[in-house]
Amino acid sequence: MSLDEHDIYLVGGAVRDQLLGLPVKDRDYVVVGATPEEMAEAGFLPVGKDFPVFLHPESKDEYALARTERKTAKGYHGFAFNTSAEVTLEDDLARRDLTINAMAMTADGQLVDPYGGQQDIENKQLRHVSPAFAEDPVRVLRVARFMSRLAHLGFSVHPDTLQLMRQLVNDGEIEALVAERVWQEIKSSLNQETPSAFFETLRACGALRIILPEIDCLYGIPQTKMWHPEVDTGIHAMLAIDQAKNLDNDVAFAVMVHDLGKGITPQEVLPSHRGHEAAGVPLVKAVCRRFKVPNHYKKLAVLVCRWHLLAHTVMELKPETVEKLFARLDGYRQPKLVEKFIQACQADATGRWGEAFKRYPQANYLRNLFKAARNVDKQPLFAAGLQGRELGDAIRQLRVTAIQSKKQQLITSTS
Ligand code: CTP
Repeated sequence: MSLDEHDIYLVGGAVRDQLLGLPVKDRDYVVVGATPEEMAEAGFLPVGKDFPVFLHPESKDEYALARTERKTAKGYHGFAFNTSAEVTLEDDLARRDLTINAMAMTADGQLVDPYGGQQDIENKQLRHVSPAFAEDPVRVLRVARFMSRLAHLGFSVHPDTLQLMRQLVNDGEIEALVAERVWQEIKSSLNQETPSAFFETLRACGALRIILPEIDCLYGIPQTKMWHPEVDTGIHAMLAIDQAKNLDNDVAFAVMVHDLGKGITPQEVLPSHRGHEAAGVPLVKAVCRRFKVPNHYKKLAVLVCRWHLLAHTVMELKPETVEKLFARLDGYRQPKLVEKFIQACQADATGRWGEAFKRYPQANYLRNLFKAARNVDKQPLFAAGLQGRELGDAIRQLRVTAIQSKKQQLITSTS
């Protein structure tokens, strides 16, 4: 390889995460003073569409030519790039979003930190490198995601950076973001250490109202204190979202949207939210449509929104209703859906203030009833030659009976 080792630097997230003591995911490099032709001659594979980025022939790590950027139009693609060999490492670092992302490292581990990234790691600050931060609205989402990743370590957004984020919102730049890009950031934030920090940060700069008005409007809406000591529906949504951080991404998304119906409860019936489950379904579908959320996410989210109250009240339900719930969840064909549903309902139930809400015996209760219903022996029905509707009714009856006796058994074992 003819590229001079000294002109290659590790940059971005890898340097940041190494200094934070967090696991390093991707390793991105910047090459200073090289031309695309030299990169190709050295065996690198060109992949960039808008600007020259190359893959290392063996490691497949990304190597980009040092570049500067200039905003030319609204939105994600409205940039002009300069990748001439005169662009310095400092020029390249200056175009980056946050100081903690604008550090570079030489092959022998020396840090290049012209914009005070290390100091900001020490001060636990997410701070923009330059006013050019405001040239890219994706950065509003990125800062919010970094907050979901780092808030537990004590990080906050520098007030001047928050001001720039507000400016982007006020200039209408958030509307220019493509749905797929927004979805990527939402999706990834849901499984970070503090997912709620993503939404709180977007709310603090006014972007939540534009990106997810259905969640933004939950703030200030009261709920019954007996069931929700936190009262505010927005706070409940955040507590529930944090409870779901270790669950599968589709389950965490279902938790995120489970109470959207509470946002449209008529003023005069508050703080009760009777019927919010059915009212929420069209809103959940609209969010899924807007962000082109995968179908299996949507299916689970709609089920959780519509039926979560049945999980909470399962101990009082008739066996017929429980059987119908499992059927509605499509659990006999896709048992995993029942498990995901239970996990989402548990995050909702425990995502409230107060010790009283930390236990959720309904979860194992539901699991036991579902196991009983699923494992009924259908052979005798087939042997008796039952078919069609008659067979369906008989299977349902078997399941109801199995649920009934399992309930009895569970009551006796706990009394
Ligand atoms: N970057 C930027 N503005 C963006 C996107 C990226 O300034 N809108 C810069 C940052 O310096 C960032 C680097 O490009 O560190 C690499 O971006 P990316 O790989 O998307 O993210 P990372 O910061 O590496 O972090 P993560 O992989 O955790 O998203």
